[in-house]
Amino acid sequence: MTDLTATASRTARWLDDPVESGPAAGFGVYLHVPFCHHRCGYCDFATDAVGGRDDTEMLFHRYVEALRRDLARQVAAGRRSHGPAARRDHLDDAWPTVTSIFVGGGTPTMLPPDLLAGVVASVGAELDVAPTAEITVECNPETASEELFGALAAAGVTRISMGAQSFTPSVLTTLERGHTAQRPVEAVRQARAAGIGEINLDLIFGTPGETDDDWRQTLRTVLAAGTDHVSAYALTIHDSTPFGRAIAHGSMPAPDDDVQADRFAIAREVLGGGGFEHYEVSNWALGSARRSRHNLLYWRHGDYLAVGVGAHGHLAGRRWWTTRSTARYLAAVEADTSPVAGSEDLALDQQAHERLLLGLRVREGLHPADVPPLEPMALEDAMEAGLITTACGRLQCTEDGWFLLDEAVSRLLV
Ligand SMILES: C[S@@+](CC[C@H](N)C(=O)[O-])C[C@H]1O[C@@H](n2cnc3c(N)ncnc32)[C@H](O)[C@@H]1O
Ligand code: SF4
Repeated sequence: MTDLTATASRTARWLDDPVESGPAAGFGVYLHVPFCHHRCGYCDFATDAVGGRDDTEMLFHRYVEALRRDLARQVAAGRRSHGPAARRDHLDDAWPTVTSIFVGGGTPTMLPPDLLAGVVASVGAELDVAPTAEITVECNPETASEELFGALAAAGVTRISMGAQSFTPSVLTTLERGHTAQRPVEAVRQARAAGIGEINLDLIFGTPGETDDDWRQTLRTVLAAGTDHVSAYALTIHDSTPFGRAIAHGSMPAPDDDVQADRFAIAREVLGGGGFEHYEVSNWALGSARRSRHNLLYWRHGDYLAVGVGAHGHLAGRRWWTTRSTARYLAAVEADTSPVAGSEDLALDQQAHERLLLGLRVREGLHPADVPPLEPMALEDAMEAGLITTACGRLQCTEDGWFLLDEAVSRLLV
């Protein structure tokens, strides 16, 4: 175990309030819906632009049936072979109770309400789902409706996560979004009226053309919208996207690191001032009960099944991922074969490093027992640089460390 107390006296500022230690991670199921009307220029998620195609009704039915079969096959394989489920001492040959379900995309809300409700129900048909499970569906503002929220609430959905990105019209245009600035606010109201208890809005900061004032106004609009969770991401440029190509050709300016750092600080200031707890690098919640339990599962290195195109799963140190091609996914599942494109078994030291990488993302940090052996000089160096702290007897990132997470981790893992 790394001796944190020896170095605790010289810790950096931050985190003088008690930090809630995480409960057991739980067990989750992620299901991916890889369809969007249009692919936003910045996005590299596994998704196909199907807006304008006239065969979507058939495609959607086929895909939802494939999700159901894929999940059933994984669950049966685990039971039959004592396979992935048996890798953990305490799991025996039974699958654990599901504590969170996340239907993400893409744009799950392109599916008709009854089909999307069926995707949620397919998990309960195969696995034991806790009555208190968090069940999240990712919604796009332009395809969500009162009818859809009603169907999701009736299907047991407890939480929606919606991509608002910005409330500045010119920024939405740059981001190629298909909704007005007002639409997410209206959708939040509709979701609440339908009985959805928890609502997240996704935001992106640092889009070319956005000003500090635009960003402040966006954050204030979120505070007034009545959500209980905010995910705010720095615009990330992926080379293979239209934004990546435009920047490479010089027709779009690259996001500026200093501007991004300032916007991150503004987010902390405005959301913190609105009562939101900054509990993960990019995530804020109105109190600890509103944190995303499914995402906490990822950061706590928990176990989750992956269902659908481009989905990633993890069970007891084994990671796997599914093909990013919808055509190949459908062909594999319909032929009763596996759509898995790759997997890796992490050695114990790799698991420990991964736990460190993920654990430092979260405010709660890591218990000393979960910290892999670190060079004492490396720990001191990271603490002296103000990136890491042990003030609460746990290994945590400081706020500077959060913005420079890669640097903080590389200093620790010399
Ligand atoms: C998987 S996407 C799906 C969200 C949903 N389809 C939507 O667009 O409303 C989840 C979130 O990731 C964020 N995101 C996607 N690409 C990003 C990028 N290149 N940089 C920063 N954030 C990004 C956006 O905030 C988006 O809402
Ligand atoms: S709608 Fe969402 S998932 Fe689809 S391309 Fe845009 S950001 Fe990506």
